[in-house]
Amino acid sequence: MPEIEIYPDTASLALRAAEQFAALAEYATRKRGRFVVALSGGSTPKAMNALLATPRFVDLIQWEKVFVFWSDERCVAPEDPESNYGNARDTLLVHVPIPAANIQRIHGELSPEHAAQKYEDKLREFFAAGPSTRFDLVLLGLGDDGHTASLFPGTHGIRENSRWAVAVNHQEPPLPLVDRVTLTPPIINAAANVTFLVTGSAKAERLRQVLRDPYHPDRLPAQVIRPKNGKLFWLLDDAVAGKIGR
Ligand code: 6PG
Repeated sequence: MPEIEIYPDTASLALRAAEQFAALAEYATRKRGRFVVALSGGSTPKAMNALLATPRFVDLIQWEKVFVFWSDERCVAPEDPESNYGNARDTLLVHVPIPAANIQRIHGELSPEHAAQKYEDKLREFFAAGPSTRFDLVLLGLGDDGHTASLFPGTHGIRENSRWAVAVNHQEPPLPLVDRVTLTPPIINAAANVTFLVTGSAKAERLRQVLRDPYHPDRLPAQVIRPKNGKLFWLLDDAVAGKIGR
């Protein structure tokens, strides 16, 4: 069963997310000497990132032991405003003492298949070398259509069961087709902790469907996220949680 936590506003939700990040980092570095996290794209994590970049969290977290990956990426250059890597770099990574070698971005400037293969190769090499064999934390968001990471309704990544990263073509009308690379369910569901950050009344009905409707991940991809041997958290604000009931 997921742990659902509801906060009165986006600021308190962001604080809880930053505190969870710090607590999981402390635990993982104490147990295994490093903390391995996949950051999410989207706008919701920016408030958490901003908090993690403040002195309290800069001092609290052993950043030299943090290893950063991404849940997904758009196939754009790192300087593009749509780059998930670029956003995390600007809101978080340049403000904390993390070694450049600990940052494993998805190379969005490559062709999607090439970028996905390169990312998969890096993930397999990284986890094969130990000491941890899975993500300590995967951060995710929920899209208006029920997608998470770049697992969009009706796309093949939802049913992927062997590859850890795949290329995705997705069109959000009226925007042009954008290629993306996404982590897949097998690697996300192997994580020790998976945390969704979701806010705003506009997503309230979609969230209700994801949490309360029958399992139909081709229509509601976020439903496919069910950690096998880990914990699943939904950190919500009051506005988005309005329809899920108790
Ligand atoms: C991305 C992610 C996507 C995102 C959700 C929620 O945009 O890079 O692929 O899954 O997390 O769409 O986005 P918001 O946080 O902007 O609502």
